[in-house]
Amino acid sequence: MKLEWATAEDAPALATAHAAGFAQPWDAEAFAGLLAGPGVFGFLALDEETPAGLVLCRAVAGEAEVLTIAVDPALRRRGLAKALMAAALGAARQAGADQAFLEVAADNAPAAALYAGLGFRRAGLRRGYYDRGPEGRADALVMRLDLTPASS
Ligand SMILES: CC(C)(COP(=O)(O)OP(=O)(O)OC[C@H]1O[C@@H](n2cnc3c(N)ncnc32)[C@H](O)[C@@H]1OP(=O)(O)O)[C@@H](O)C(=O)NCCC(=O)NCCS
Repeated sequence: MKLEWATAEDAPALATAHAAGFAQPWDAEAFAGLLAGPGVFGFLALDEETPAGLVLCRAVAGEAEVLTIAVDPALRRRGLAKALMAAALGAARQAGADQAFLEVAADNAPAAALYAGLGFRRAGLRRGYYDRGPEGRADALVMRLDLTPASS
């Protein structure tokens, strides 16, 4: 397994990795567009040469936001998301971010546990933030992590 800094050329592989984690995946064009935006960066996990996971972030004006993260179901619970987050948060710090935010569905226990384990704490609630189609809407928890040296 290796983690690589994602470039625009990785957009199709990022889309493949994203599709393994979400019912409504983002396509390669969406990833290429995001990566071209200000402060956006990501890491791609490759198992041999097969996309195994990804993380995408944006760091602007001292604040980082985790835009998405996913790991192939066959490769979960092996620390891959933790490694992707460590890489992303390290890069965010290097980009000058002193805090990181993310949104997680209130019913996404694996992701909430991942973030809590990394030190993220609940900072807010967005009611009905996620559209779950016929199942209605789900709330989002906003989580925050202090990235200043004294806090880590
Ligand atoms: C959330 C996700 C990225 C975790 O990936 P992963 O590689 O399995 O996570 P890790 O192995 O690095 O787990 C790190 C920690 O997260 C927590 N965790 C991860 N999966 C968990 C689960 N199914 N149940 C409870 N805790 C879980 C644990 O604390 C774990 O540490 P441990 O294994 O030492 O107990 C993965 O489940 C996924 O892709 N889900 C679908 C996409 C998604 O929901 N993304 C987040 C959107 S906000």
